[in-house]
Amino acid sequence: MEINVYKDKQEVAEQFSAYFAETANADGVFHVALSGGSTPKIVFDVLAENFSNKIDWGKIHFYWGDERCVPPTDDQSNYKMTVEHLFSKIQVPKENIHRILGENDPHSEAMRYANLLEINLDRVEEIPQFDLVILGMGDDGHTASIFPHEIDLWDEADHCVVARHPESGQRRVSINGKVINQAKEVVFLVTGASKKEKVKSVIERKSGSEKYPATLVNPKSGKLIWFLDKDAASQLD
Ligand code: 6PG
Repeated sequence: MEINVYKDKQEVAEQFSAYFAETANADGVFHVALSGGSTPKIVFDVLAENFSNKIDWGKIHFYWGDERCVPPTDDQSNYKMTVEHLFSKIQVPKENIHRILGENDPHSEAMRYANLLEINLDRVEEIPQFDLVILGMGDDGHTASIFPHEIDLWDEADHCVVARHPESGQRRVSINGKVINQAKEVVFLVTGASKKEKVKSVIERKSGSEKYPATLVNPKSGKLIWFLDKDAASQLD
């Protein structure tokens, strides 16, 4: 586990973008699962504005680790957020963008997306393998859309599951633990003081942290990298 702490969100975005450019340009087609929520917005802005001519976008295929079960035009849509902050600013072939169809029936979409991953990605031990999975972490320790109250979804046999947000009840389609931990590399992008307790608990594996899905992220490749700002990392030893 590699832990990088930067002074603020802007520096996290800049440093991650440099890492992404280097990793994605390395070789061949690159399959990446994006995270949603608000943290990626500044990261995608920096990636698009400072690195657009440094990355061969044509060889990158974009997927999502999770998506809200809403239409792609809804402000809650992770796809819509990514179009606004990234895809609207770079030249990426539309056939390289594999969104989760939030407007579809959640259970049938989870199956469809799982099949898509099986077709598009190499499979290792029958599990689709991403080159990179980007994750955020909620204040409650959730990651992707696996929440503490449904932590059993983490180990479900299917590659994609249907989850519910604990407060809003909003349904989500999410990849689960097997797919996340099969990735060649996993990156956490976590910023802000509201995350500091969970960052400490998860990274230092404090007692009780096993109930947070973020704690279960443990890629078989061993390549887990945290990009944190000082606020989120402020309680780390
Ligand atoms: C989502 C994300 C989710 C997110 C965390 C952190 O669809 O909301 O995939 O897992 O990464 O909730 O969200 P913030 O970056 O907004 O704090």
